[in-house]
Order: sequence, then C-alpha cells, then structure tokens
Amino acid sequence: MTTQETIELFNKYVIANYGRLPRVIVKGEGCYMYDTDGNKMLDMFPGWAVSAIGHCHPRVVDALRKQAGELLHIDNTFYSEPQGELAKLLSERAFGGKCFFCNSGAEANEAALKLARLHTSQEKYKFITAEGSFHGRTLATLTATAQPKHHEGLLPLLPGFTYVPFNDITALESAFSNEVAAVMVEPIQGEGGINLASKEYLQTIRRLCDENAALLIFDEVTTGIGRTGKWFAYQHFDVEPDIMTMAKALGGGVAIGAMMAKEEVAASLVPGKHATTFGGNALVCAAAVAVIEAIEEENLLENAAELGQYIKDKLEQLKQKHSIIDSVRGIGLMIGVQLTGPGKEIVDKCLEKGLRINCTQGTVLRFMPPMIATKEQIDQAIEILDTVLKEGE
Ligand SMILES: Cc1ncc(COP(=O)(O)O)c(C=O)c1O
Repeated sequence: MTTQETIELFNKYVIANYGRLPRVIVKGEGCYMYDTDGNKMLDMFPGWAVSAIGHCHPRVVDALRKQAGELLHIDNTFYSEPQGELAKLLSERAFGGKCFFCNSGAEANEAALKLARLHTSQEKYKFITAEGSFHGRTLATLTATAQPKHHEGLLPLLPGFTYVPFNDITALESAFSNEVAAVMVEPIQGEGGINLASKEYLQTIRRLCDENAALLIFDEVTTGIGRTGKWFAYQHFDVEPDIMTMAKALGGGVAIGAMMAKEEVAASLVPGKHATTFGGNALVCAAAVAVIEAIEEENLLENAAELGQYIKDKLEQLKQKHSIIDSVRGIGLMIGVQLTGPGKEIVDKCLEKGLRINCTQGTVLRFMPPMIATKEQIDQAIEILDTVLKEGE
C-alpha cells in the first residue's frame, strides 16, 4: 500500500480523534523508525515514551516470540509465572509493594483512585491533584487531570476533586482536610511541560497525607522504568508513595500498565472490587520482564542519567545561539525546552529533516530519547534542531 492508500483507509474507517502526521510507519529499530516512502527518522520521542529501550529491542522481541509459542493469555482465574515474576522484579526495584496489572496508564490511575477510596474511611471521598497534571482520559482520570482544556464538552465531571497550583505548598495546605482520600501527583509533569516538583513540595504532600490519614499516589506512567536515570522518579526526591502507577516503558512496546501499593494498602483490593480481563497476561508480562532485564544488563539507568546531562548541556549551548530558547529543564531522558514562541512548526521541520521530537503546551519541545541512544545520535539530533532554528530566524 502507498502512503496515500493507507491514509485513505483511515479517512474512511478510523475515527479521526488523533491529529496525525502524513507518514505511515512500517518499521522500528533501536532509535530509528522508517516510513513507507523509505524515510529513516531518528526517534527522540519513541511511541510517546513507550519504546524507552528503543524500537523492537531484540530481548523483548525474543521474549515475545518464546512466550507466544507457549501461552498468550490466561485469565486471572489462574496463576501464570510471568505475572508473578514481573511483580517481584518491580517490587524489588521500588518500595516493596504489591502489584495489580492492567493495560494502560489511565487504567493504572483509575485503579489507584479506586484503591484509595476503598482503603480509606467512607467520609474520605476527595482527591487533590495539581494544575498542569495529566493522568489519563477515562472519566475519573480525566477529572484528576487538572487542565480545563481537556474537560471541555465533558462537564460535569466526577465530584470531589480539588486542583492546586503545582509546587505551591501554601495552596496545598489550605486545600487539605480530613475528607481527602489521596493526593495524586506526577513527580515530573510530562504533558504539562516537563515541570519538576521540588523536594520540599513532595515532602510536604507526604507529611500532609500522613497527618490526615490520606494516601500519596505518584503517577509514574511516564517517569517510571528508568527514564529519569533511576527506576522511578520518586527515588530522586526521597519521598515514598503509598501507591504508584506505571505504564509506557514497562512493556517495551506492548500494552501494559501497573499499580503498585504498599502491602497494607494493597490488602484493601479484595476479589470483586476491581479487575480487568487482559490485565497482566502472560505475553505482556514476559515482555516487561525482558525490559527490566535489558535495562540492567545494558546499564541503561546509568546511560539515561549520563546521556540526559549530555543533551541538556548541548541544548544549553543551543540556547546561547537561538533566542527562541528560553530555558532547558528535566531529569535524565525527560527533557523540556521552553521556547519563547510556538513549537509546532519546529517539530514539523525537524521531522522533514529526519528527527522526531514533540511539542507540548504549545511552547515546550520534548526530548524523550530511548535509553539506548548514543552521544553520536544526540549530536545528530542537536545538529538538526540547530539547522531548523537557524532557518526559522
Ligand atoms: C503521567 C501520565 N499519566 C497517565 C497517562 C495516561 O496513560 P495512557 O495513555 O496509557 O492511558 C499519561 C499519558 O500520556 C501520562 O503521561
């Protein structure tokens, strides 16, 4: 099929709820993706942060092939080895909690909100979330997402949610009461523009949750599984959550989400209270186990930390040359470039020249390269961005 033929199929049969670029991707390998017209693109935003150890990592592909030959899916009426093994690996790399598996970030957050309600007392029905957050598109997680533009046309949403400005301790203190079941927060806001929480802010949330018998939920759907140079972003802040969610990078390209909760909290999720048919099936869990093994064997946490600093330094150098760059922020391979003007055209021009990046909130370029990227690939990306910015001046 030609590019045009595929686009026509979409126009006729696929709901147009995404703004798509006119390219049909047919192959992904490491840090590159290829389209039907033979273009090769350096992918610095692979699968919206899903392909965090690169496209089609051989270890993940092998694990999928092997598992597919044995058992694809078995319902949660039974036990299956990959799910148990994955839960153990995750627990040991985080705070020793227990896991519930699902199929996406939104579902993991949905489970977290339900668990918080189930675990705390009846009169506790309120949630606090931060402005600029993004927690998903189901009705509960959309309500948790404190960005009015995402709520348009869907009001009224669920009751009980209070939004506070991100990193504002005073606002947080005044929003708290003993009716609060939980605070849900991203340690680093992704879609909101790569906004880093301060350590003091997260520590204050922890204290207020403890004082009010509320739970702290960290949404690590984007930050989790190594992107920031540690297994989970909370490990940079010395603040432990009661519940944590993850998705994107976990499956190496297959759909999986997970919620981890401290053992005493997890005990409130008893049979009949929450479930999902596909959650934690053998195939996706085998892939996720392979992702964790690959990260460890290839020292990808170290690479993410080192490479992240390298990109930030390079982007700081670009800032000296191009006044459209206002600032550079991020941890590890979660990097935002704050522009003084719109970024969409820059992203489009980069793609024309073979570099894929992203723009969020209109003016923040996002770099979330695969953890397997090399300095040479980063140099190549920076060179393309440099050229595009020069041409735009
Ligand atoms: C921090 C965060 N939470 C939740 C979600 C929702 O995840 P999903 O799209 O897998 O439902 C996203 C998606 O971008 C996210 O960035």
